[in-house]
Amino acid sequence: MSTKPQVVVQPSLEALNREAAARFQMLAGQSIASAGRYSVALSGGSTPRAFYRLLAEPPFREAIDWPRVHLFWGDERFVPPDHPDSNYRMAREAFIRNVPIPSENVHPVPTATGDPETAAAQYEETLRRFFAPPEAEVPRFALVLLGLGPDGHTASLFPGAPALDEDSRLVVATYVSKLAAWRLTLTPPVLHRARHVIFLVSGPDKAAVLREVLEGPHDPQRLPAQLVRPQDGDLTWLVDDAAASLLSAPLKGR
Ligand code: 6PG
Repeated sequence: MSTKPQVVVQPSLEALNREAAARFQMLAGQSIASAGRYSVALSGGSTPRAFYRLLAEPPFREAIDWPRVHLFWGDERFVPPDHPDSNYRMAREAFIRNVPIPSENVHPVPTATGDPETAAAQYEETLRRFFAPPEAEVPRFALVLLGLGPDGHTASLFPGAPALDEDSRLVVATYVSKLAAWRLTLTPPVLHRARHVIFLVSGPDKAAVLREVLEGPHDPQRLPAQLVRPQDGDLTWLVDDAAASLLSAPLKGR
């Protein structure tokens, strides 16, 4: 039973990052108490970097039971793990190398393999081995973190891409012609299966697309972020005032 998406507006980017870190910590406690572990799919891009850094600082660094945390990626650029565009590298530098998480709990997308399709198949295998879901069942992340691109994409689910209609594979390789680049991304079935999904959106340049996604006509082929509807989980839009500047009052909770 999916719950109504919640839009939480924070007065500043700092407040947004603090709120994101506090929710990451709270959900860690809940998930570890109920399931003994906390499985998280991290988002990439620039928006989460500052929030990730907070996770490696007090009080979050000490309060989170890192040996019970398992980190995955919701999407990745098909570049080597030490490449400046790597989402893995961004997260490693922002917090992973500064928190006591066992290296075997960090599950990057295997982008050092020969081709994107093989990387996607290998990462799907990694997910199936870790979650060991019953046959045909989709793995259930405790938390999936997502961002929002100016074109309405999320993870690496871009407008009009075949990946938007994927209904069996967990991970696919997708060629993004406007970026002339390959990406690996979790597919809609995995996003829909998550227990908690949090979109983190900040800045005035996201205001127009955020309003379209939340208040515009439902057109996920054009605005893939609209696709994300956890079937048995909750969806939260954690946004700052600048990104929420064009939203109608009711959505802003005012
Ligand atoms: C990526 C992301 C992508 C990102 C959006 C927003 O690998 O780029 O996972 O989906 O979240 O493009 O990016 P910014 O936060 O940089 O605006």
